[in-house]
Amino acid sequence: MTIEPPRPAFLTALDTAQSSYATRNPSSAKAYERATDHLPGGGTRSSIFIHPFPLFIEKGEGCELTDLDGHVYKDFVSDFTSGIYGKSNPLIREAIVTALDNGLQLGAHSTSEAHLASLLCARFPSLDLVRFANSGTEANILAITTSLRYTKRKNVVVFEDGYHGSVLSHFELGGANDGGEHDMKVPFDYLVCPYNNILETERLIKQHAAEIGAILVEPMLGAGGCIPGDVDFLRYLRRIATEIDAVLIFDEVQTARLSTGGRQKLLDIIPDMTTLGKFFGGGFAFGAFGGKGDIMQMFDARSPHAVSHGGTFNNSPLTMAAGAVAAEKILTEEALAELNALGDWLRDSVNEAFNSKSLPFKMTGLGSLNQIHCTLPSKLASAGLTLLFYKLLEKGYWIAQRGLISLSFAISREDVEGFVEAVIASAQEVAKL
Ligand SMILES: Cc1ncc(COP(=O)(O)O)c(C=O)c1O
Repeated sequence: MTIEPPRPAFLTALDTAQSSYATRNPSSAKAYERATDHLPGGGTRSSIFIHPFPLFIEKGEGCELTDLDGHVYKDFVSDFTSGIYGKSNPLIREAIVTALDNGLQLGAHSTSEAHLASLLCARFPSLDLVRFANSGTEANILAITTSLRYTKRKNVVVFEDGYHGSVLSHFELGGANDGGEHDMKVPFDYLVCPYNNILETERLIKQHAAEIGAILVEPMLGAGGCIPGDVDFLRYLRRIATEIDAVLIFDEVQTARLSTGGRQKLLDIIPDMTTLGKFFGGGFAFGAFGGKGDIMQMFDARSPHAVSHGGTFNNSPLTMAAGAVAAEKILTEEALAELNALGDWLRDSVNEAFNSKSLPFKMTGLGSLNQIHCTLPSKLASAGLTLLFYKLLEKGYWIAQRGLISLSFAISREDVEGFVEAVIASAQEVAKL
């Protein structure tokens, strides 16, 4: 297919969509104005900002969100994958209420902490032992520092367009598309390699082999565009990590939902360490890092040489209770298989329409984690995607402005069918310009 050169109508349509959005959302505009008094840019999460101002959501129910001006949207973002349970789940609610009745904060060991740990170790083949933290970012920082201490080395291999947290991102190729620079990084000694490129990665790793303590990789690039890691590439990383005595860390903060044991279990590629986050806190702030017993033993407080790892909220009772009920009763094999099959159907359906109708879009991803990309030349691609985002909003569908689409258990097959129709219709409207 040959792609048409830029047409002014295309960019004019974006201006029109943005001003119509502004007109439809006066309450969000006002709330945003007030928010900028005390929050730089009016918020605290770059990824949820929208030009010219973000929508303010008043409440959520099932798979729906209602904004301050009363518009209702079907939520296909699911809080950037962490909102897998929908807006309210009766089992989580019950677990939280019981935990609250037993004390909001205990500041002590509890059996619920050990219970959640046992559930996670049973799910993930790489987890002999695990420790908790408060975010995926923190889990990754801890996994890196653990690996570097264990290997007594200083280099960390990461990958272009990899995202491991706010201060651990490597968007060399444009990635997250949230309009911000991603150059504020925790100052580790990074060796940035190209994702899914075995030859070049091998060349770089071989040059620095003696210094590399950790190889940190997402089994599928998440914020980098839902680009699955090739099985051969991930197998190669397993092999080379063993060869050079480095710790292979799989960041499964997003991909953990692809099966009961994440993508590692699906592919039978077992890393030395794994990081988790998002939904395993049952809707609360959460992170976890763990792995082989001989690595994680360093935190054993019974040893005279134990390494200290603190964190006031690491074992917060509400998080432990919500996470445990979710791992035990909600994120079951059947439920995850069904959700991921629905996501596969969504992706296949829209891609088939994009191809058969020669529309300048494609969807990548795995299971319930997907991303729409605009295939127009680079300058127009971002405008094309933004335009699609506004067109979907007008039809009552909420996706991330960067194109992420993540399913939750609250989304039905009918919701997805409606969404597929809306995506195709919106893509056709964009293509006509
Ligand atoms: C793969 C991956 N790792 C780590 C993180 C960071 O998690 P958090 O936002 O909880 O710090 C994210 C967040 O989106 C992620 O997608």
